[in-house]
Amino acid sequence: MKIIIDTKENCAKLAAKQYAELLNRKPDCILGLATGSTPEELYKELIALNKAGEISFKQVSSYNLDEYVGLTGEHPQSYRYFMDDKLFNHVDINKDNTHVPCGIDMTDEKAAEYDKEIEKAGGIDLQLLGVGNNGHIAFNEPGTPLDSVTHVVKLTQSTLEANKRFFASIDEVPTEAVCMGIKTIMNARKIILMAYGKNKAEAMAKAIKGKIDLNVPASILQLHPDCTIYMDAEAASQL
Ligand code: F6R
Repeated sequence: MKIIIDTKENCAKLAAKQYAELLNRKPDCILGLATGSTPEELYKELIALNKAGEISFKQVSSYNLDEYVGLTGEHPQSYRYFMDDKLFNHVDINKDNTHVPCGIDMTDEKAAEYDKEIEKAGGIDLQLLGVGNNGHIAFNEPGTPLDSVTHVVKLTQSTLEANKRFFASIDEVPTEAVCMGIKTIMNARKIILMAYGKNKAEAMAKAIKGKIDLNVPASILQLHPDCTIYMDAEAASQL
C-alpha cells in the first residue's frame, strides 16, 4: 500500500493526476467509481481537467460500486443520480458507457451478472473507494467473504446512521444495497482509496496497521499489489 497524507484538496489534486496519467495512456480505460462525500472533491478536479482539455472521457467506460435497493435512478439519493449530478453531466463521457448497478428487482443471481459484464469489458483499470466508519468498502460490511462478487447486502445500523444525513430521517435510508463484492474490487488492476475526517481514523488504523481481517473489509486491501491510499491528517490520526 502506498500512503499519502495531505489536505483533502491536495489529495484530490494528486489523485486527479493519477487519473490524468491513466486516461492519457489508455483513453478507453475502465473506471470503477464510488459515491458518497469522499470523492466529490476529486470529481470536481476531474471536471476541471476535462474542461481544460487535459483529459477526455469520450472512450471511457465506468462501473460504479453500488446502488441502494429500491431507488430508481431518478431518486435524488440514488447513486445513479449522484454520478450524473457530480460527474457524468459535466464531462464528455458517453452516458451509455456508464454503469451503476440497478437497485430495482435485484437478486443475487442478477447482481452477479455485473461481474460478468465487467470481465467482458476487459476488467477495471482503476477502482476508486471510500471507506465506511466501520471499515466497509463499497457496502461490503464486516464479515463479507473474500470471494464475494456483486451481491445484495443488508446495511448495518452503523452504515444507516452514517448515511441518514442524506435523507429526511433514518427511516428513509434504504436498508439494502447491491454492491460489488470484495473479489470484484480486488480484481481491479489499480485501487485508490480516499478517507477524510476523524470518523474514519479508527477504521483506517485497523485497515493499514492491523492484521488482515474480514471484520475490517478495508484491511483486505493490504493484499492488493497496487493500492494507493489518500487521507487527511484526521483520518490518519490513529496510525
Ligand atoms: C459509496 C460506497 C461507500 C462509501 C463509504 C464512505 O459508493 O461504496 O463505501 O465510500 O460509505 O462514504 P462517505 O464518502 O460518504 O463518507
